[in-house]
Amino acid sequence: MVKVGLIGLGTVGQGVVRLLTERRDLLARRLGTELVLKKAAEIDPERRRISPLEPERLTSRAQDILDDPDIDIVVELIGGTDTARELVLEAISRGRHVVTANKALLALHGNEVLAAAAQKGVEVAFEAAVCGGVPLLLALRQGLAANRIQEIFGILNGTANYILTQMSEKGASFAQALAEAQAQGYAEADPTLDVEGIDTAHKLAILVSLAYCAPLNLDPISVSGISNLDPLDLQLAREFGYSMKLLAITRNDGNMIEARVHPTLIPRDHMLANVSGAFNAVYLTGDAVGPILLYGQGAGMMPTASAVVSDILDLARNLIHGVKRRVPPLGCDAALESPRTIKPLDEVVTNYYIRFAALDRPGVLSQISGILGKHQISIAAVIQKGREVKGAVPIVMITHEAKEANARQALREIDQLPVVSPPAVFYRIEDPHLHAAQI
Ligand code: NDP
Ligand code: HSE
Repeated sequence: MVKVGLIGLGTVGQGVVRLLTERRDLLARRLGTELVLKKAAEIDPERRRISPLEPERLTSRAQDILDDPDIDIVVELIGGTDTARELVLEAISRGRHVVTANKALLALHGNEVLAAAAQKGVEVAFEAAVCGGVPLLLALRQGLAANRIQEIFGILNGTANYILTQMSEKGASFAQALAEAQAQGYAEADPTLDVEGIDTAHKLAILVSLAYCAPLNLDPISVSGISNLDPLDLQLAREFGYSMKLLAITRNDGNMIEARVHPTLIPRDHMLANVSGAFNAVYLTGDAVGPILLYGQGAGMMPTASAVVSDILDLARNLIHGVKRRVPPLGCDAALESPRTIKPLDEVVTNYYIRFAALDRPGVLSQISGILGKHQISIAAVIQKGREVKGAVPIVMITHEAKEANARQALREIDQLPVVSPPAVFYRIEDPHLHAAQI
């Protein structure tokens, strides 16, 4: 028999209780012995009341879980980083294996947590932390272990993807789409982490680490979110054949690694362009396997609980068979000691969508294109929307590949032109067809 202690009976915790209690027989058959939820801690009395667990298996003190010498596996599902870090480190120091879904904890304190676990000879499992129910980390750690990962594009935040889908399909403003996401229960009351790209960056830090055998490092990941998006740009992007997605992007060019999170234009025939609503998807390329697409529910009670319980089963199997740390948590034993250099965003080379508000007069376009040309930025396509004798009109350009530093400098100079109403709006594009067109 393997005994589990659970801390946090919120959305995910309740799903885990359901699976561990309602699927008890199935899990016992799969494991070959019983998996018992010995105790659960929750400070919110309302949530304790709706739990199917008997009162003797419920406590308001997380410490009761850590103090119980019978518990083999501690599951942390409280979220946040301070108390979660303390509880997880204490569980490890007491020789307990840990399962968590907490991507913020891993991105900010993961190296400390994993080093403590390695020293103590216990496991920390976190499949649910990226893409919820989609077994992405398992794939990176084991199924793709023979590959060098060349690039990963991920839609890793369901809330942001739901908002972008509403804006794109219904022409909703950001505020309207966010309100709808909140009404549907996708977005938190404070949606900052989701809409500002921070949650996606936490997840990308984990993917970078697993993909390239490197310590967890959130700091060098450049992040911008979707809260300032104008539906006009989604509509204009569509006219050029693009969809807007909040993407986590990492790419290994052999020397340096790109790691960035930002709204990105991708061709509408790209598989990720059709991932809508609250779904997640990851499109990655390994040098041996080629491209792979993983798609599914990255959030929600049961999808996330599915991943948490698979981790519990995995650790329980290790316990039963007396095996320890057979697969390192970051897929590589040296991961915590081999930092990788992340390419500064200024050095990244990509294509751009740029929208200017400019006077509709002869010579305006040549002033703008002259500055772009001076900074080695070549224009692939341009449209002007409408005709305006007095005011400004939107002019949209799609560029060939250019260095980010050059693009930013050019836009600073263009914003100074008297014929332009600053600031210019720009988004990065990931489009293999544009690369090919330049050759
Ligand atoms: P919730 O906020 O729904 O649940 C957390 C619960 O833990 C709350 O009931 C909270 O009570 C309780 N809690 C907080 N501190 C303590 C403590 N010290 N002792 C006991 N209970 C405590 O969060 P979720 O279930 O949504 O998320 C849990 C974790 O899973 C997070 O790390 C999250 O990032 C991650 N995750 C969530 C997903 C999702 O779809 N929801 C998807 C993937 C990962 P109170 O409300 O009173 O503070
Ligand atoms: N807030 C996250 C999302 C939860 O919307 O995807 C899953 O990590």
